[in-house]
Amino acid sequence: MPRITVLISGSGSNLQALIDAEQEGKFRNTKIVSVISSSKKAYGLQRAEKANIPTKIHSLYNYNKGIPKDDRDARQLARVQFEKDLAQLIMLDKPDLVVCAGWLLILGPSFLSNLSSDIKIINLHPALPGTFDGTTHAIEMAWNQCQESKKPLVAGCMVHYVIEEVDKGKPLIVRELTITPGEETLEQYEERVHKEEHVAIVEATIKALNL
Ligand code: GRF
Repeated sequence: MPRITVLISGSGSNLQALIDAEQEGKFRNTKIVSVISSSKKAYGLQRAEKANIPTKIHSLYNYNKGIPKDDRDARQLARVQFEKDLAQLIMLDKPDLVVCAGWLLILGPSFLSNLSSDIKIINLHPALPGTFDGTTHAIEMAWNQCQESKKPLVAGCMVHYVIEEVDKGKPLIVRELTITPGEETLEQYEERVHKEEHVAIVEATIKALNL
């Protein structure tokens, strides 16, 4: 039975899409076995609990506690330890697939090199391949670029494999949305992106596990 671990940082609406898909039988006998949040305040934790999915919190804050903000070396060491421990934490649940669903922290080489290579890991990013990589403001940046250029912009979202280069992994699912300048507010575009994300993340999970 394939096992999925979902990483979250916030509201968890994409986690909810995965939970709903599992309950609707879209994942066959696959199960979401664990939800790991980078924040203890993430509403997604409540969504997981409601679905009886075990949750864990893995917060970078706990690793940085007591280290001055300007002590870059010590903070870098703390970040490396955070990533190594996250890899170990994930492997305890023996997942076949890790889905980063609104996980807001970059997963660097210390994480990837410690995660067993037979675990697939995919990430949802609200932009098209090669555009707005590495930012958590991709939705707003795309909308602003469109308004400033006064030309329609093809944007959207994707789910890609996670590699060391941020947001550069091979795309699994790409869903395009055209923004027309002056036609919709940022909030309206954001709403359209989230709707697409909820479809893309389910499709990508099915594709990654060959379900
Ligand atoms: C999504 O737009 C995702 O692309 C971005 O943060 C948002 C997370 O939403 N990284 P949620 O926590 O799944 O509701």
